[in-house]
Amino acid sequence: MLFKDSKILSSDITSKAIFENRRQLIKQAAAGAYGLALAPWFSRTAFANSPGLGKLKVMKSDKYSSKEEITPQKDATSYNNYYEFGLNKDEPVERAQRLQTKPWTLTVEGLVKKPMTFDMDALLKLAPLEERIYRLRCVEGWSMVIPWDGYSLSKLIEKVEPLGSAKFVEFITLADPKQMPGLNNRVLEWPYREGLRMDEAMNPLTLLSLGMYGEVLPKQNGAPVRIIVPWKYGFKSGKSIVKIRFTEQQPATSWNMAAAREYGFYSNVNPTVDHPRWSQATERRIGSGNLFSPKIKTEMFNGYGEYVANLYTGMDLRKNY
Ligand code: MTE
Repeated sequence: MLFKDSKILSSDITSKAIFENRRQLIKQAAAGAYGLALAPWFSRTAFANSPGLGKLKVMKSDKYSSKEEITPQKDATSYNNYYEFGLNKDEPVERAQRLQTKPWTLTVEGLVKKPMTFDMDALLKLAPLEERIYRLRCVEGWSMVIPWDGYSLSKLIEKVEPLGSAKFVEFITLADPKQMPGLNNRVLEWPYREGLRMDEAMNPLTLLSLGMYGEVLPKQNGAPVRIIVPWKYGFKSGKSIVKIRFTEQQPATSWNMAAAREYGFYSNVNPTVDHPRWSQATERRIGSGNLFSPKIKTEMFNGYGEYVANLYTGMDLRKNY
């Protein structure tokens, strides 16, 4: 345990959340008094139904959505991997509440014609938000079915006009020791970094997510903006990203740097290639059944083969794990 006194921590967080909520209300009143139009991001958060969260306007996306039973929201928002806030699944829900997500900017740079920095308003306006119900399969052997709210990352990529020399995309997430107690732990090299090949990043399934369950992303799930790559193990889906960089060389990624034999660059969900320390043939669905319920068979590419298998034609997926 990194922090023993979680009681002090949670009361600290509660008072901060209330304080932030009050500040929002004061801002809202001030904007109203001067007859200002509220920005979409602001007006959504102003009508929050819980501290820091707000409803999003989303369209259903049946084409890519799973028909499986959706994981209860309370499970998806309380059983998390977010090592910057601790190694235990129940830590991010408490500790991530200290994360300051406003203001936030996402800088897109590297081998592009038009490097840009987006604030959250700009990201919200960039394309209509879709609800995509995706399976998230963690490399540890559990899975969830989550309605993410966002749009294809390709929409953002098109805006910055990558150069022909751009072959990979690197995602860099926030690393702020003042806000993230988990950075004291050297289990990973910070900031948490992930990457995709350009064609993977351009695949319509790859989502820039700004919300889940029709609400702004909770902090423990990677607020205010994260990547979701549903045919890959969950660790490829970086949370709270601050930078996207286009590169010629394959970028170094945090889990690969920590244990190259266990976590490859590709990390496609693959029931036939075991993790060196456990099988990947089956998974436990969080929020349904109990510990004794039979496990579900893991599907190749997490069930998204029809959309992505062609990206790997001719590649040995045992070597490129
Ligand atoms: N992103 C950051 N920045 N830090 C992390 O520790 N964990 C990854 C991924 N993204 C992680 C991260 C892992 S291992 C998984 S399985 C998913 O986030 C979990 O996402 P969830 O908590 O929203 O289910």
